[in-house]
Amino acid sequence: MFEHLKPAPQDKIFALMAAFNEDERQGKIDLGIGVYKDDHGKTPIMSAVKKAEQRLLETASTKGYVGVGGDKAFNAAMIDLALADSVPAERVRAVQAPGGTGALWVLMMLIKRSNPDARVWISDPSWPNHTPMVEQVGLEPAVYPYFDRSTGLVNFEAMIETLDGLGKNDVVLLHGCCHNPTGANLSLEQWGRVADSLERTGAFPLIDMAYQGFGDGLDKDAAGVRLLASRLPEFVMATSCSKNFGLYRDRAGCAIAVGESARTADLALKQMLSAVRAAYSQPPAHGAEVVATILGDSALRAEWEAELEAMRNRMIANRTALAEAIRERSNSTDFDFVAEHRGMFSLLGVSEKVVERLKDEDAIYMLDDSRINIAGLAEDRVVKLADALVAATR
Ligand code: LMR
Repeated sequence: MFEHLKPAPQDKIFALMAAFNEDERQGKIDLGIGVYKDDHGKTPIMSAVKKAEQRLLETASTKGYVGVGGDKAFNAAMIDLALADSVPAERVRAVQAPGGTGALWVLMMLIKRSNPDARVWISDPSWPNHTPMVEQVGLEPAVYPYFDRSTGLVNFEAMIETLDGLGKNDVVLLHGCCHNPTGANLSLEQWGRVADSLERTGAFPLIDMAYQGFGDGLDKDAAGVRLLASRLPEFVMATSCSKNFGLYRDRAGCAIAVGESARTADLALKQMLSAVRAAYSQPPAHGAEVVATILGDSALRAEWEAELEAMRNRMIANRTALAEAIRERSNSTDFDFVAEHRGMFSLLGVSEKVVERLKDEDAIYMLDDSRINIAGLAEDRVVKLADALVAATR
C-alpha cells in the first residue's frame, strides 16, 4: 500500500529543531523554533501555570469526557481575552481546540463547509504550516504581498492593493499580532484600512492570533483584531495558549467564529462541532483547564500577566540590544528594523547562504529564510550573533 507514496516534505521548523538537538558543539545557539527561552536557553513552566496545575491535581475528581466543544469556561475566557467587548456576545461561538494549529484546522474545515470554492490568501511570507493546512482541507491557497525585504517593514500599499481586488469567494488569513515569520506588524491605522477593504469587497477574514501578549501587551496586541471585529459582520479567529501560557505540549487553543446573527453563529458552531467529532472527538482537557483556572482567579491571573510582561520586556530588550550591537559593528542602520519589530520573530532578510554559514561556522541556528527567534537571545548570544552576522554579510 505504501510503495506508491511520494516522500512527504519534512516541516522545516521541526527539522531544524532536530538538527540543533543533534549538534554537539559547545555554545550553539538556537534561534529556530518559536518557543520562548530564558537567558539560560530553558523554556520554563510559568509559575501561575504550576500553581493552577497544583490546584487541579488536588481538586480534580474525574477523567470523564468533557464534550466535543471542550471546556465552556475556557472558551468564554478565551473569547474575552481576544475580543473583549468589541462584538456582542450573542454573535460569538467558540470551541476548544488542540493548540492554535488545531483551532486553525477547525476553522479551515468550517470555511470549507461554508464555501468549498474559497481561496485562502496567505501573506508573503507566512508561517510555513499555513499553506499545507489550507491544502490539506482541500481549499486553494493564494498569496498576498506583505513584507518589504529591502526595508524590513510591511509593504502595506502592495498588500492593500491585492486585498482591494478580492471578492466574496476569498478568505484573507491575517496574523492578529506578532507576525510570524517577519515580526513586522500593521499599525492600527492600517488595520482600519484593512477593515475598509474587507467591508467593501466582502472577502472573509481568518485571523491567526498565536502570540497575544508577546508584542506590546494583551490589549494592545488585540487592538487591530478588535477593530475588525467591531466593524465586520463575520470572521473567524484561532487563538493559542502555547506561547503566552507556555503550554506548548499541552495543546490548548480556541477556534472562535463570529456570525452576523446568533442564528448564523449557531450554524457555524454546529459545523465546527461536527468536524471535531468526526476528526478527534474532543480536545485534550489539561491545558485548557489550567488556562481557565488562571483566567478565572484574580490572583493567578495577575501573576500570569506579570510573568508574561516580563517575557515580553525581555524580548523587546533583546531586540534593542541586537539592533545596537549590529549597528556598532557594521556602522550601518540596516538592521535597525529588528528593534521596531514585535513578537517572537524577526526576519533578518539575509540570504540562505549566510544562514548556512552561520550554522556551519558559528553553530547559530535560524530558519532558512533568516527568521530568528528573539527569545533565543541573551547578552552573550547577542554579541556572538552580531559578530557572526556582520562578518558573514560583509
Ligand atoms: C513556530 O513558528 O516556530 C512555532 O509556531 C512552532 C510551530 O508549531 O511551528
